[in-house]
Formats: sequence, structure tokens, C-alpha cells
Amino acid sequence: MIYILDTADIEEIRYCNEFYPVSGVTTNPTIISREHEDFWKIVKEIRDIIGPDKMFHVQTTQKKAEDIVEEAKLLKERIGGEFYVKIPICEEGLKATMMLKNWGIGVTMTAIFTPAQALIAAKAGASFVAPYVNRLDNIIADGCEVVAEITKQLNLYNLDCRVLAASFKTAEQVHKCASAGCHSVTVTSGILKSLISNPMTDVAVATFEKDWETVYGDKTILEF
Ligand code: E4P
Repeated sequence: MIYILDTADIEEIRYCNEFYPVSGVTTNPTIISREHEDFWKIVKEIRDIIGPDKMFHVQTTQKKAEDIVEEAKLLKERIGGEFYVKIPICEEGLKATMMLKNWGIGVTMTAIFTPAQALIAAKAGASFVAPYVNRLDNIIADGCEVVAEITKQLNLYNLDCRVLAASFKTAEQVHKCASAGCHSVTVTSGILKSLISNPMTDVAVATFEKDWETVYGDKTILEF
């Protein structure tokens, strides 16, 4: 399982990059626009924090295939490192995905809502497909089930494309996708925190501390 951060908030990225085993960052125009900052400043800061080896998925703002390719080339050149251009699924996007193979630029096909969309995106050469779990749940379409089916089909046809499940609002959604064998998820710091939090863990740790202190006081192992 690959965990990626779904935010452009610099402090959130800095924090999660330090404390969690994250493999990169995903953004989209909505996520970027929340920062009210210069686009290049934001993406440069993110790249500086995560370094060149972690994945950075940045979405195109273009609509025509040729323009998407030009923008992807510019993004790759200026952002550098392990870069993927996010392209919403549509005919022009599929054409751009096939063209980008010649430029060695990885594509994350985004705004995926059905297994059929994901399969065609994978056939076009997308490295990742990003189904929107919570937005599917909101229309009572079972996002985790859609992720499970996409995962099954990509594996069944042995396609060189991974599921990057997105749009999470609960830890349970992430857990269900992980159980379905989904390859990767993109989540916020809030979801990451929920994934490791458990009141039973808190009780266990409090007991360890109390029992130790009863016998050894505030002495640590380093002080023996
Ligand atoms: C992923 O990169 C998606 O763009 C993102 O997870 C969508 O999330 P939302 O449904 O919370 O906007």
C-alpha cells in the first residue's frame, strides 16, 4: 500500500512527511486554489519538502490533448523528480495520455467514477487511475466497491496501472480499499491520524508508563 498526501498545505506536508511513511503528494486545481498563493511557489515548496524521489501528482488545467502535453512537459521540467501529470478522464485526456508515453511522462487519470473508465484509462497508458471514493459514497454508489472492482480488473488483465484511490472522508473507507487490495491511496493528515488512533492503544501505553514509574520512577533506560 502506498500512502500519498492529498493537500497543498505546506505545513501539513512538512508535518506528515516527517511523521508518516508517505510516498508523495497529490494536488488538483481545487486543492491548489485553497492556498491563494502563486502556483509555481506552491509546487516548488512542496518539491523541496518531499525531495526528488517522492511522487508529486499535479493536475493539468488544459482541455485539448496537445495543450495538455505542452503543460505536462513544462510541469515536468519545472517541478522535476518523480512527477505525474493528473488528467481528468475524457477523450482529449486519453489522447494526451497516449501522446505522453513518447515523452516519458507518467499520467494519473483522475475524476474516475466507474471501472469502465479506469480500464480504458489503463489501456491508454495511465500509470495510476484515481477513483473518488467519498464522492461515490455521497451518491450511494459504494466507492470502496468501485475501487475493489477496478483493482480486480487491472490485476485480471495484468495492466501496468495502479489504483490511486482518492476523495476519502473516513478511515473506514481507506481500510476497506486496503482490504480490497487497492495499490495506493491519497489522504489528508486528518485521515492519517485517524488511521493510527485507537483508544485501546492509549490505555495500553498509559499502563506501560504507570507500571514502569511505580518501580523505576522517572528513570529511563538510557539512565541505567
Ligand atoms: C485526488 O487527488 C482528488 O482530486 C481528491 O482526493 C478529491 O477529493 P475531494 O472529493 O475531497 O475533493
